[in-house]
Amino acid sequence: MNGWRQRLVKSLYQSRSTPESRYFQLATQSADGRLHNRTVVCRGLDDERDALWLITDTRSQKVSDILNNPQAAVCWYIAKTREQYRFSVTCEVFTTSAHATLCQQYWQLLSEPAKTQFLWGEPGLERLNAAESLVAEMPIEATPPAHFCVLRLDIHDVDYLSLRGNPQIREHYDLVGSKWRLNEIIP
Ligand SMILES: Cc1cc2nc3c(=O)[nH]c(=O)nc-3n(C[C@H](O)[C@H](O)[C@H](O)COP(=O)(O)O)c2cc1C
Repeated sequence: MNGWRQRLVKSLYQSRSTPESRYFQLATQSADGRLHNRTVVCRGLDDERDALWLITDTRSQKVSDILNNPQAAVCWYIAKTREQYRFSVTCEVFTTSAHATLCQQYWQLLSEPAKTQFLWGEPGLERLNAAESLVAEMPIEATPPAHFCVLRLDIHDVDYLSLRGNPQIREHYDLVGSKWRLNEIIP
């Protein structure tokens, strides 16, 4: 296991009792060049490749951004261990139509309230009847709705910072061919 991955696995283990340690920020760029940033939940670190997984809605801004430009940035601060990971990533969208089994796997792991969020309507549209509950009398299906999707973020550059200790530790990792190269840098 490469150095940054070992660190991340350890950070997640040490912060396993705090759900917010799974939240990170994902910044994408839209076609007009503007940057968009939002919090998402890490749904897993891939076992076979250096990639993160998350779930989202195909109708959201982030998906149209990624389809326009798959390059994105992740900033992940794990408060419990006082470590920051910044990743340069390439994103790929896995839709229910092309990757039904994969989407099904992620869908069935969601809690009922998390599934319900996918039935609220199209994200970002104006909420016309704000007084009405968004939760329609719609049964939650065993299979995900068509707009559910899974994102894979392949990591190709890592900036790691640990605030523990004096001096702090900062490391930069980049890929040389298929091997990760580590440079220790001044924080
Ligand atoms: C703690 C937290 C976790 C979130 N997790 C997700 C997530 O896993 N997937 C997602 O699509 N949106 C998630 N959101 C909502 C996004 O931050 C964002 O508001 C929404 O996806 C719309 O983003 P967009 O219009 O930029 O695509 C989360 C928000 C918060 C505050």
